[in-house]
Amino acid sequence: MKLTNLLVAIAATAILTACQPATDGGEPAAATAAPTEGGVIEAIATRTSVRAYTADTVAAADVEILLRAAMAAPTARDSRPWAFVVVTDTAIISQLDRQGFKAPVAIVACGNTEKMLEDEGRDYWVQDVSAAVENLLVQANAMGLGAVWTGVYPIADRVKGVKEILNMPENLIPLAIVYAGKPAAEPKIKDKWDTANIYYNKF
Ligand SMILES: Cc1cc2nc3c(=O)[nH]c(=O)nc-3n(C[C@H](O)[C@H](O)[C@H](O)COP(=O)(O)O)c2cc1C
Repeated sequence: MKLTNLLVAIAATAILTACQPATDGGEPAAATAAPTEGGVIEAIATRTSVRAYTADTVAAADVEILLRAAMAAPTARDSRPWAFVVVTDTAIISQLDRQGFKAPVAIVACGNTEKMLEDEGRDYWVQDVSAAVENLLVQANAMGLGAVWTGVYPIADRVKGVKEILNMPENLIPLAIVYAGKPAAEPKIKDKWDTANIYYNKF
């Protein structure tokens, strides 16, 4: 074998070996790069709930990016059973705002009964809309915005209250209100990584 061919063969073997899952107990090999730096993992891992904001407004174009991230979420059978209400009117925000966050924008993520699955998969709407909310939160963090998910559904009183305040049509069910704005302080990141939550293969 020529020297160049031999070197190519050695390099290919090294790459393939690195890509193999471990066979000793199933745990994957340790990542080589710093695990939470750069790219999507950084935006996910540094996301934290932000509940205090500066007085700065959030530009409509930025709100659109948040909504694009939300609507990129996966949904059961691609049903997309959602609607999003963007609230920028401070008088309406203060009616919604149970905890006094005083955010410049609130996005109410709703399920849409007219788009929900009609069989036993109906309740997937909660997971679908939740996936959208998480996408939105991660995107907000990636853009330097602070945001917090506040729960509405399934708390009946909250659902009723939000529907009344927004004069929401019958077919929409508010699942969550995300408040967002420029963080008033540097967010404190939590490290939630805990290997005790992980199991491999069978119990
Ligand atoms: C379903 C759900 C409901 C939540 N409701 C509220 C809420 O009503 N008020 C609030 O301040 N935070 C709420 N949160 C945010 C959590 O308190 C927060 O995510 C949790 O404490 C973990 O902190 P982190 O987001 O900074 O990682 C909610 C989060 C979820 C997922």
